Amino acid sequence: MVTTLFIWFFLFSHMTRASTSVDSLAVDESIRDGETLVSAGGIIEAGFFSPEKSTRRYLGLWYRNVSPLTVVWVANRNTPLENKSGVLKLNEKGILVLLNATNTTIWSSSNNTVSSKARNNPIAQLLDSGNFVVKNGQSNKDDSGDVLWQSFDYPGDTLLPGMKIGWNLETGLERFLTSWKSVDDPAEGEYIVKMDVRGYPQLMKLKGTDIRFRAGSWNGLSLVGYPATASDMSPEIVFNEKEVYYDFKILDSSAFIIDSLTPSGNLQTLFWTTQTRIPKIISTGEQDQCENYASCGVNSICNYVDNRPTCECLRGYVPKSPNQWNIGIRLDGCVPRNKSDCKSSYTDGFWRYTYMKLPDTSSSWFNKTMNLDECRKLCLQNCSCTAYANLDIRDGGSGCLLWFSTLVDLRKFSQWGQDLFIRVPSSELDHGHGNTKKMIVGITVGVTIFGLIILCPCIYIIKNPGAARKFYNRNYQHILKKEDIDLPTFDLSVLVNATENFSTGNKLGEGGFGPVYKGTLMDGKVIAVKRLSKKSGQGVDEFKNEVALIAKLQHRNLVKLFGCCIEGEEIMLIYEYMPNQSLDYFVFDETKRKFLEWHKRFKIISGIARGLLYLHQDSRLRIVHRDLKPSNILLDDNLDPKISDFGLARPFLGDQVEANTDRVAGTYGYMPPEYAARGHFSVKSDVFSYGVIVLEIVTGKKNWEFSDPKHYNNLLGHAWKLWTEERVLELLDELLEEQCEPFEVIRCIQVGLLCVQQRPQDRPDMSSVVLMLNGDKLLPKPKVPGFYTETDNKSEANSSLENYKLYSVNDISITMLDAR
Ligand SMILES: *[C@@H]1O[C@H](CO)[C@@H](O)[C@H](O)[C@H]1NC(C)=O
Ligand SMILES: *[C@@H]1O[C@H](CO)[C@@H](O)[C@H](O)[C@H]1NC(C)=O
Ligand SMILES: *[C@@H]1O[C@H](CO)[C@@H](O)[C@H](O)[C@H]1NC(C)=O
Ligand SMILES: *[C@@H]1O[C@H](CO)[C@@H](O)[C@H](O)[C@H]1NC(C)=O
Ligand SMILES: *[C@@H]1O[C@H](CO)[C@@H](O)[C@H](O)[C@H]1NC(C)=O
Ligand SMILES: *[C@@H]1O[C@H](CO)[C@@H](O)[C@H](O)[C@H]1NC(C)=O
Ligand SMILES: *[C@@H]1O[C@H](CO)[C@@H](O)[C@H](O)[C@H]1NC(C)=O
Repeated sequence: MVTTLFIWFFLFSHMTRASTSVDSLAVDESIRDGETLVSAGGIIEAGFFSPEKSTRRYLGLWYRNVSPLTVVWVANRNTPLENKSGVLKLNEKGILVLLNATNTTIWSSSNNTVSSKARNNPIAQLLDSGNFVVKNGQSNKDDSGDVLWQSFDYPGDTLLPGMKIGWNLETGLERFLTSWKSVDDPAEGEYIVKMDVRGYPQLMKLKGTDIRFRAGSWNGLSLVGYPATASDMSPEIVFNEKEVYYDFKILDSSAFIIDSLTPSGNLQTLFWTTQTRIPKIISTGEQDQCENYASCGVNSICNYVDNRPTCECLRGYVPKSPNQWNIGIRLDGCVPRNKSDCKSSYTDGFWRYTYMKLPDTSSSWFNKTMNLDECRKLCLQNCSCTAYANLDIRDGGSGCLLWFSTLVDLRKFSQWGQDLFIRVPSSELDHGHGNTKKMIVGITVGVTIFGLIILCPCIYIIKNPGAARKFYNRNYQHILKKEDIDLPTFDLSVLVNATENFSTGNKLGEGGFGPVYKGTLMDGKVIAVKRLSKKSGQGVDEFKNEVALIAKLQHRNLVKLFGCCIEGEEIMLIYEYMPNQSLDYFVFDETKRKFLEWHKRFKIISGIARGLLYLHQDSRLRIVHRDLKPSNILLDDNLDPKISDFGLARPFLGDQVEANTDRVAGTYGYMPPEYAARGHFSVKSDVFSYGVIVLEIVTGKKNWEFSDPKHYNNLLGHAWKLWTEERVLELLDELLEEQCEPFEVIRCIQVGLLCVQQRPQDRPDMSSVVLMLNGDKLLPKPKVPGFYTETDNKSEANSSLENYKLYSVNDISITMLDAR
């Protein structure tokens, strides 16, 4: 920890070193390498830096007090300084100039915008927004008319809140992002993100002149497909006579979100807060193959199902080159099945597609005021019109968007997107038509999918239910439906620091899927890091399962998941840390058990029941844990129990109450007979495990290790025996005798025995268990427990329970009923 702190201290002090705390330069003032400007609020810093391994010097802007160094803009990206002799100066013309050792200007803020404006005592000022502006110094107002030059007009690879991508239609100024050549070289790289204004405006990512990706057109709410959307972020496209641009705002003032175009062309989203100060990648910008521009050729739809893309010709279209199409070469796309007889008659109709990413709008025509009906008529009148759609989906839809000739880059989603109407000959509208069999051909699945699936739950997904769902979470549809996930990611470096490089000293234990470490974050928060073992490729599915499930669950008796981390081969889950470790550590330990007085044990028994009830019934996904045992029950400061380890948990769909698995996984001793023998599990499997845990807590003994030499091979049998012999209080942990509430003890034992009954249908559900523990429900007589093997036993028929003297079932029940 000391080392960690030291490193951080070093980083911060390094970054803020020589800070002059001045936010502006007046004419003839300058800063040299080593000196910096700092914006008034202390958020942004301007100065000289060297990226990564490079020794060259660049003038850049970065977020102050954020680590690692996050450069958001570079002045001399194409003209580096060879050594630390650079000087930035504001000249008398109001132009920022960067001079090298021989006083040669190697970069200057452009002059053409300056020329038209009167200069009046200009001043260069660094703003908290990350904008570096040159303006007339004597104006008090923040009048943009006085701005002579601003860095926001010349974006680099990073889009900051308030910065625009798009066109000033009056001046012709275009603002776009350009990637760096590499992490060591800020020079202009291959990728560009820009606003395409040839038709209805859309955002495009290009590699050179090749279109690589197109964010669907703006539908009034969202930009379908734009990869970087966080919950605290409100994106928009503004489109009027003066300008057309994309930008975004941050809703939470203590949060920072920036988008940066990486050298490899991904639009990455970084997030941090004034507290964390460590930018985390909340979206890598990696996308599935359906987002590759025109991945299915023209006139066809890409649909991403079951983790792979499929291509399908539009209604009324067939593959142009069927042989190639059938082997997955789709460049030629699809062509109309029959030549339209549009010229001689208007017999065409429209086929409606729902949940669509609309086709490339670069050759579209639009009208903002027309309604859908007018739009349809207009399209029908023009034989070359191939499709129409609403422009804006708000308030039932408005505006008209028309396409002519081929349709490119369409995608179908399963739960968001918008309606698109495709022109087809009327014969194609006939549902019974024999020739309309769809041609569906799978695409060879690429390699990026794995990362994508894993990442989905970790991505902040837009919270506005009306707005677009990001495609990421569709991979989890089968589990998550339309639920949103809100799970932050942690940087690997942060976890390495927190756990002192996963030192053995910090190891808390070994779970089914890998070791668990204790870690301390910079802010002092203590966490538990579950590191998925690299050896077992098998654990990946379980891991995904766990992330998907637990991200949705919140209950005081369930362990809390803070976030996850996926970097390279490393996959980790970050939980709240439980100082008192797990229940088994307490309840089976001779000395620790003493501290677990009866009322604490009863609290634990009740807490687990409530957590389980939530899983089974109250959470929106009905979940069977499948591996409930004391080592998966963690205890917090107050010894309140929290259920953990959802690696084997299964959600139940709809009314499903039971299921089968051919892979029995779980822990012997806690598995019910029907599961161990036949892989048959249901919520009643967890009830059985719960019953075992209750009896273990009461007795302080392990079910499977317990052995009564005389008669029985396990704790359940022993408990049953004592129950039938009316000696059930003898079960109680001998360390407890003096301080217990016999009434409660017997109630717990009876509930435990009810839960471990042989037949699942005899076991109570968790809502009954909770009521029974509270004394709010009549307790039935338990029947023989599972795994009870003694043969010469008359207890099954034994009706002695009715004569149970001291605490007979009926007495207890009656008392309870009276109490209500
Ligand atoms: C930078 O290089 C120039 C010429 O190579 C030299 O005159 C100057 O002293 C160097 N400055 C620094 C700070 O090294
Ligand atoms: C300064 O820049 C000029 C023009 O690029 C170059 O010719 C000269 O060598 C540079 N001087 C130093 C010291 O780098
Ligand atoms: C560069 O300019 C500064 C200030 O104007 C001056 O002191 C210095 O001698 C100049 N250096 C060279 C190499 O011309
Ligand atoms: C202004 O920039 C243009 C090119 O953009 C250049 O041709 C012109 O010489 C520059 N003028 C001054 C005064 O630097
Ligand atoms: C295509 O046109 C031919 C005649 O040109 C006709 O027989 C056939 O039914 C048409 N197919 C469809 C799908 O309309
Ligand atoms: C848009 O449609 C409306 C209503 O049909 C019409 O009045 C208007 O002139 C159209 N605008 C353009 C730019 O075509
Ligand atoms: C159909 O639309 C295209 C594209 O807007 C246009 O060039 C053509 O003149 C239109 N044809 C008719 C008949 O309106």
